[in-house]
Amino acid sequence: MPYLARRITETSGKNFGMFGRAAAMAASGRPLLRMEVGMPHADTPAHIKQATIDALIAGKVHYSNLPGEMHFREAARDKLRRKNGLDVPADRIIVTNGLTHASYAAIMALIDDGDEAILLEPYYPQHIGKIELAGGKVVRAGLDAENGFSIDPGRIAAKITPRTKMIVLINPCNPTGRVYSRAELEGLAELAIKHDLLVISDEVYEDILFDGAEHISIGALPGMDERTISMFAFTKSYAMDGWRIGYMVAPAWAIGGLLKITANDVTHVNTFIQDGAVAALTGDPGVLAGLVAEDRQKRDIVVTRLNQMAGVRCAWPQGTIYAFPDIRQTGMTSQALAEKLLEETGVVVEAGSFYGPTGEGHLRVCFGSLSESDITEAMDRMQRFFGSL
Ligand SMILES: Cc1ncc(COP(=O)(O)O)c(C=O)c1O
Repeated sequence: MPYLARRITETSGKNFGMFGRAAAMAASGRPLLRMEVGMPHADTPAHIKQATIDALIAGKVHYSNLPGEMHFREAARDKLRRKNGLDVPADRIIVTNGLTHASYAAIMALIDDGDEAILLEPYYPQHIGKIELAGGKVVRAGLDAENGFSIDPGRIAAKITPRTKMIVLINPCNPTGRVYSRAELEGLAELAIKHDLLVISDEVYEDILFDGAEHISIGALPGMDERTISMFAFTKSYAMDGWRIGYMVAPAWAIGGLLKITANDVTHVNTFIQDGAVAALTGDPGVLAGLVAEDRQKRDIVVTRLNQMAGVRCAWPQGTIYAFPDIRQTGMTSQALAEKLLEETGVVVEAGSFYGPTGEGHLRVCFGSLSESDITEAMDRMQRFFGSL
């Protein structure tokens, strides 16, 4: 008798790529320099921890409102208006267990059997499983490496069919490090409006910007408020990946449907960590600026060093914690190269093909996950490795 539901046996599920391999090697005791995982190296800032401890001591240990604590949603509302140009009432904001939970809830609430969701490729692969679990079909719209993986509305329009329900946007983009310009987002918005599509906007890297890059929330563009679910998290900005907290902003028509999912899967987000998140949103902005400055310094080291390696060419990411170097000159596939690099040097990076076929010929190197001295050591090992190929 088949015990597992078809939604499990007939979907591709979560693929862990080099992360799975590295985790197994690390568990067996091999020391590794792990640049494949998008995990912040910094500790969560002290004022955020303190606010959480204070909430615990004050007895905030009980059930809370399903969409989130009201003071959290008010703080998020204020931030969304100031920073994202999203001027929404607090009852259009739902607290979630990180961005993963926001995208799961949105996709579950919006995708019907056979609906198509377009992912811009290279993509963050963890959105795929959710679309498939909901009964939807993933349609990949490959962007062009030669154009720096910019948004080309023509390539996306070519993928739209009568079954297309949504476009999933990741801005700033993991893995390419691109921060989409207003013109690129307007092109996408025009398509969404013309074809009556929804947009899931994953903005988990909204704060990690370099060289004056500006983050624009697509939901704030004219005509997009009614069709965009904008998602944010504390994960990357405040080094709070283990806390599991984020939030989404949705049109009023979607809120009841989204709450049907979140109330059934987690009931609500942990009550006392919402106080920590309020401290993040309302605290000294210099703390966030300091964390981003550390990332920028690491980016500068990694991209400069990658460009000195034989057969490697690396564009400068405008945001995120990832470099996406082009390794086509080596003549190897990205998977073979990542595996050889791991075996020979103990440095772990992800193969570009993990992010879809358009990512082939690249590696994703996370510069946010290690200390500066470990990064320098990893770059030394990589430079020797590429020199020996
Ligand atoms: C583009 C993107 N979205 C979502 C996530 C997951 O975010 P969270 O840990 O807040 O669920 C990640 C984590 O790497 C990511 O890169």
